[in-house]
Amino acid sequence: MMSRYFLFIFLFFLFQDFAFAQYTPNYDESKVPVFKLPDPLKTFNGKKVKSVKKWETKRRPELLDFFTQNMYGEVPGELKITSYDVLEQSNNALNGKAIRKQIDLSFRKDNNLLDFTILMYLPKNTEKVPLFLAYNFYGNHTITNEADIIISEAWAADYPSFGIINNQLTEQSRGVRANRWPVEKMIDAGYGLAVIYYGEVDPDKDDLSDGIQPFFYVDDQQQPADNEWGSIAAWAWGLSRAMDYFEMDEQVDASKVIVFGHSRLGKTSLWAGASDTRFAGVISNNSGCGGAALSKRRVGETIWRINRSFPYWFCPNFKNYSKNEEALPVDQHELIALIAPRPVYVASAEEDQWADPKGEFLAALYASPVYKLYGKKGITQNEMPEVNQPIQNTVAYHIRTGKHDVTDFDWEQYIKWANTFIK
Ligand code: GCU
Repeated sequence: MMSRYFLFIFLFFLFQDFAFAQYTPNYDESKVPVFKLPDPLKTFNGKKVKSVKKWETKRRPELLDFFTQNMYGEVPGELKITSYDVLEQSNNALNGKAIRKQIDLSFRKDNNLLDFTILMYLPKNTEKVPLFLAYNFYGNHTITNEADIIISEAWAADYPSFGIINNQLTEQSRGVRANRWPVEKMIDAGYGLAVIYYGEVDPDKDDLSDGIQPFFYVDDQQQPADNEWGSIAAWAWGLSRAMDYFEMDEQVDASKVIVFGHSRLGKTSLWAGASDTRFAGVISNNSGCGGAALSKRRVGETIWRINRSFPYWFCPNFKNYSKNEEALPVDQHELIALIAPRPVYVASAEEDQWADPKGEFLAALYASPVYKLYGKKGITQNEMPEVNQPIQNTVAYHIRTGKHDVTDFDWEQYIKWANTFIK
């Protein structure tokens, strides 16, 4: 009896060990699997792409289609802005330094209504301005201390230390994320900033009955089809609709909109830039798995892990690649390549190993041949740069000291780079 008991304990621990080894994230370079990275300049049929024309007519469309059908998901239909309203406006924002506008975009389809509010800060006394466009995690009112910024009523994940309880944003979180948004620096450099609370487009939870996706359900459809949009594509859709608005706003230079995002919202900015060529530039801050990091390295967060924790971010088809990265005929360097020849900036943080900084660097490096095809300079060195030593070409990369975050250092680099490559 006793020995059976010990055998059971032994097997239990053996299994735990096995499970542990299989499921713990890997951070050890020597354990990175050997893999072959697909060549962005070779078609799925194995034909070499030697001209911009072949890239644009054959290779780019097939890559875009693969990412659409198997990863981020297709937007099932078109929905234009039904109307927009200026909710609030001031020429005296940021102590007289800037113009502030809060614009509400409404979308109606059948009996559905969705609204989201764009908060804009613009430099004064200029005509059309270039703009950074971004989502925020906890509401527009978190990005500065200004009392006039409207608090969103959309669902938010609880965050008690920000005063977010019962899924409601509150006054207590006004300005709590000002550290991530050096608005005055942007204004001084001649850029506007437009932000949207991402929860207004699709609440970040595993519920497929809220946000924009249900507008397109047919009959008794309850969730997007296997090749249809997850939340990242839904958020990217919202950025494109903001772009539709900027094309009508006389204070904005819609040919100079740079889409920025951090983390899950960095995955979103990359997909927005890849799927909508109107964005003049793209910044991915610490975007990691499903963003700038190569999936086949399986360092830190992996496809299996992200699909398990956030099953609604990607389309259901993406689950085919959980623990099956070798079957993927693409990798994230090709997502970045879809942005070519437009400027793209990939940024990592030294302590953000979960996002695999090296994998982010390599994706920027291996996207570069497509930029070269256009005569643009991508990343030309094979080794990662030192920390806090940015490489700024049309493809830019830096790894800074510190953790998963958005810092002044990051924004100083983005502004400097945008001055050269976009403004
Ligand atoms: C989690 C998730 C990441 C994501 C991050 C974030 O860590 O695993 O993929 O980038 O959240 O958005 O902050």
